[in-house]
Amino acid sequence: MTSPEWWRHAVTYQVYVRSFADSDGDGVGDLPGITGRLPHLRDLGVDALWITPFYTSPQKDHGYDVADYTDVDPLFGSLADADALTTRAHELGLKVIVDLVPNHTSSEHAWFAAALAAGPGSPERARYLFRDGRGPDGAEPPNNWQSVFGGPAWTRVDDGQWYLHLFDSTQPDLDWRHPEVGDLFEGVLRFWLDRGVDGFRIDVAHGLVKEESLRDQVVGEGESLGSGAPTGESMVERTLRDEPMWDQPEVHDVYRRWRRVLDSYDGDRMLVAEAWTQTAESMARFVRPDEMHQAFNFSWLLAPWSAKAFADVVTGTLEAVAPVGASPTWVLSNHDVVRHPTRYGGGPVGLARARAATLTMLALPGSAYLYQGEELGLEQVDVAPEHRQDPSWFRTGEVGRDGCRVPMPWGGTRPPYDFGPSGEPWIPQPADWAPLTVAAQSGDPDSTLEFYRAALAARRTFATTAGEDVEVIGSDADVLVLRRGPVTVVLNCGTESVPLPAGEVIIASGPLAGGLPPDTAVWLG
Ligand code: NOJ
Ligand code: MG
Repeated sequence: MTSPEWWRHAVTYQVYVRSFADSDGDGVGDLPGITGRLPHLRDLGVDALWITPFYTSPQKDHGYDVADYTDVDPLFGSLADADALTTRAHELGLKVIVDLVPNHTSSEHAWFAAALAAGPGSPERARYLFRDGRGPDGAEPPNNWQSVFGGPAWTRVDDGQWYLHLFDSTQPDLDWRHPEVGDLFEGVLRFWLDRGVDGFRIDVAHGLVKEESLRDQVVGEGESLGSGAPTGESMVERTLRDEPMWDQPEVHDVYRRWRRVLDSYDGDRMLVAEAWTQTAESMARFVRPDEMHQAFNFSWLLAPWSAKAFADVVTGTLEAVAPVGASPTWVLSNHDVVRHPTRYGGGPVGLARARAATLTMLALPGSAYLYQGEELGLEQVDVAPEHRQDPSWFRTGEVGRDGCRVPMPWGGTRPPYDFGPSGEPWIPQPADWAPLTVAAQSGDPDSTLEFYRAALAARRTFATTAGEDVEVIGSDADVLVLRRGPVTVVLNCGTESVPLPAGEVIIASGPLAGGLPPDTAVWLG
């Protein structure tokens, strides 16, 4: 799809760089590996790919800890490999979105090393959030904020000061009130725009600016400290919390500046926010006409398996973005959450529900984000403790996110399933994935892969022309019926088959047995 504002209707495929394809046999995915597998994305029928961070990084949070924003980590290749990837993607008609991590640097970034060396009160420290501690000898952290990965959001350095890290201690938060920080990132944007990328996914977009006083978070009754990350609650039902570390009004000045930078380039470059805001309205503020183009809408992903909940999310989302003229987005899985077949119960039921939720999502206006491996119906993997690498596991002892990051199975009958030419993948793959490989599923009409290909092909026939309106015709706890342009979608979240409304079946997420069985969705035309 090369129409102007391509992102308004795009299906974007998220590539988790470590786990997509390994070209050199070191067991870690890399940029040449992605380039070699781009035909898979073309054949799947997506419009764009978003690649998770591949910049120079000690990999404490798998690239979300950046030591140099304008170079490629040797683990993943070189700048020439990044250029070759973009060129090849464009030849195949695919747009390229890269990941920008502006909330924090790696503790191995030159700025942080300089800040540690320069000491309290120095200009080098002023680019981060260094503060003196509280209590006798300043031995208590400056405030009560908690890291998203568990434990205090502050770490003390040798001279007694503390620095803020909303994530791991190896990810110090920048002070976005400092002018040099904005200048650094304008340079980074230009560096990648000059190399031809089509857009940026903005990590922790709601976090850059903190309430200036860095005051304590006020915790209400029954609440605990923290949040700002997946909570399992739907945005629609959420009670608002006090969050002085997230979603401050000044953050929008950052995106207005970035929008001006993007608008000064040719082509249709775009910004998509990862913003775990508390309400659909606050999410919409990130996509006002002079800010970002899109924001991930996590309420679809957080919704429970209920037709009523899905209906509320559709209506709430469309109402929130309409006044600002932004295109809505939808997502069910990414590298931070439990894969959706597993969330929906796992096994055959989980997979049937996952396919039904996906088919419903693909009919909606706006753009959809897919996560690598969902087109194969992959489930969350139970990664053994000795193989876990997520920093949240090390900070909390809770399982963490490794289970959705297991390397892709491409072919063959045993690990590494053609993930690479040889070598042990950086997290072991399950022994029973042979039937799930791309090669095994290709050509099998009942496979999840062929279902995704068919659904994306069907979407292309109407997605750009069907308009932005959705009519929710009916929804109780069990059955959702909605219409967009020429397509009627019925999703059965109940336990009984329901009769199909009139119309010709365009595609169904599973077998239809004289009606619409439970855990199934259908498009009718
Ligand atoms: C959100 C990213 O998606 C996640 O993987 C990362 O750990 C945090 N931001 C911190 O950068
Ligand atoms: Mg490799």
